[in-house]
Amino acid sequence: MKNLALLLSLSIALPALAERIPLPPNAPKSYQAECASCHMAYPPALLSAGDWKRVMERLDQHYGTDASLGIPQKQEISAFLERNAGNVWKPGISAQPARISQTPYFIRKHGEIPAKFWRDPRIKSAANCEACHRGASKGVFSEHDIAIPELRGD
Ligand code: HEC
Ligand code: HEC
Repeated sequence: MKNLALLLSLSIALPALAERIPLPPNAPKSYQAECASCHMAYPPALLSAGDWKRVMERLDQHYGTDASLGIPQKQEISAFLERNAGNVWKPGISAQPARISQTPYFIRKHGEIPAKFWRDPRIKSAANCEACHRGASKGVFSEHDIAIPELRGD
């Protein structure tokens, strides 16, 4: 009984695992410098290692833009992304081109959001995590911390 009470209090005190998906503290400076100017620095756990590899191999044709890098930065960032790729959160394999928003994990987590929100001018794109997840750059993805009032889980 004592253990059960402890377990219950722990499960109330600890937020669900998926609410926090932070950038690993060992992220190289080059990741913020090179991969966070057009969009947020996506936490590596949200794509599988194979999908990160595909993203990094095609930086010259990056979703309609050119995000090419010098070889040392590319190697450093690729190694970091693949080393920290999704294991715990099991994002699954994305459709191609690789997108976080096309992984089975993302689709499952966002399945209840009505289609019109993905085209909403406040959001623009599913890749724009911060439009809904105010704390995304700090790794906070809780359903209680959503910028769009209609979508907030209370
Ligand atoms: C010059 C601007 C630019 C730079 C620099 C850039 N990206 Fe992107 N990235 C984009 C654009 C534009 C998209 C497509 C966004 C959309 O569909 O709304 C994108 C999309 C992505 C996606 C897919 C998101 C999704 O789920 O749809 C990933 C992953 C990604 N970028 C990773 C990176 C990485 C890693 C780097 C650094 C090596 C990087 N990006 C640097 C512009 C950039
Ligand atoms: C249109 C707004 C919107 C956008 C854009 C969006 N999300 Fe979400 N996300 C939500 C909502 C709402 C929930 C809660 C869904 C639920 O619980 O039914 C959620 C849930 C999540 C969860 C699960 C949290 C938990 O506690 O289980 C994760 C992880 C997540 N989002 C990551 C992302 C990432 C990464 C991006 C960008 C690639 C993104 N989201 C883009 C609205 C959005």
